[in-house]
Amino acid sequence: MSYNGQTALVTGGSSGIGRALSRRLVEKGARVFIADINVEDAETFVKELNDSKPDSAFCAKCDVNSWDDLTSVFTKALNAFDGRVDYVFPIAGVTERQVIPRPSEQKDVRKEGFVKPDLSTYDTNGTGMINLVMIAVQAFRGQKLKPELGGMRGKIVLVASTCGLYAMYGVPVYTASKHAMIGLVRTYGYLLPGEDVTLNAICPHVVRTGIAKNAPTFYDDLEKDDLLTDINNVVAGFETFLGESTKSGECLEVGPRRTRTVQFMDFSDEETKKGVDATYVRSAKLWKDQTV
Ligand SMILES: NC(=O)c1ccc[n+]([C@@H]2O[C@H](COP(=O)([O-])OP(=O)(O)OC[C@H]3O[C@@H](n4cnc5c(N)ncnc54)[C@H](O)[C@@H]3O)[C@@H](O)[C@H]2O)c1
Repeated sequence: MSYNGQTALVTGGSSGIGRALSRRLVEKGARVFIADINVEDAETFVKELNDSKPDSAFCAKCDVNSWDDLTSVFTKALNAFDGRVDYVFPIAGVTERQVIPRPSEQKDVRKEGFVKPDLSTYDTNGTGMINLVMIAVQAFRGQKLKPELGGMRGKIVLVASTCGLYAMYGVPVYTASKHAMIGLVRTYGYLLPGEDVTLNAICPHVVRTGIAKNAPTFYDDLEKDDLLTDINNVVAGFETFLGESTKSGECLEVGPRRTRTVQFMDFSDEETKKGVDATYVRSAKLWKDQTV
């Protein structure tokens, strides 16, 4: 598949999955705009990409926790690409942090009050991604339908995780953020084709990237058991949603040996399905011009 003449905004493109995807897009003819908090690495990478394909890559510093940074970087990408961004990839993410004091560090809340939890993992992986999706949709509304995009105005593919599909006991806030992304994609990804936009999620198993750099033996231990997922398979997963694909609302699990679309849970009975449908009929009007 060629991406000649197509444009993309990638958050987290300085490292890991976002970097590998950006490289593949440029190799296949797209121009990419990398938005990353680590602008030094972004600049070095963009230079490397432009050395191989002139004028193919741009970057700007962006903290996805900042609404102003996100809107500013999106505007820069629109300016760099003559007013049109075809693909948006919300990929920037961080791993679990210590959220509240460990049990042995706990002070007496009755005397000293409560410690506010550090929810920065949720902010970056959850709120940051939702904000970018909402910015992308608003920008796509002003773009013409494009045959090379399967007749769509634009496409969004975000990175969730297997942590969004399974219960990962040691990383509850990270898991909550990834479950949130699955919920967003399965719902908004159902509505968005009505606006000629698609929204899908990639859910990788463990991939060797910079995200676990503070736990260097983590990847080696998994590699011994052949449990690491090849980053090229993750990139291939993204590509199933690009070009002429019109799929939307799908969550693609990419594991060491298998890639599959993970379906919704079955309804427990007919009444449950009717209740869900009734909620849809009542609430979908918030997202449409006509009332349902
Ligand atoms: N590596 C894995 O095993 C794995 C598995 C499943 C999902 N993921 C997800 O993949 C995504 C990419 O992670 P990765 O593994 O490539 O990690 P990585 O650390 O190699 O890359 C993450 C990138 O995001 C950037 N970033 C972090 N916080 C940011 C912020 N606030 N604003 C802007 N940029 C920021 C970093 O600078 C870095 O360039 C994340 O959403 C992660 O949760 C990773």
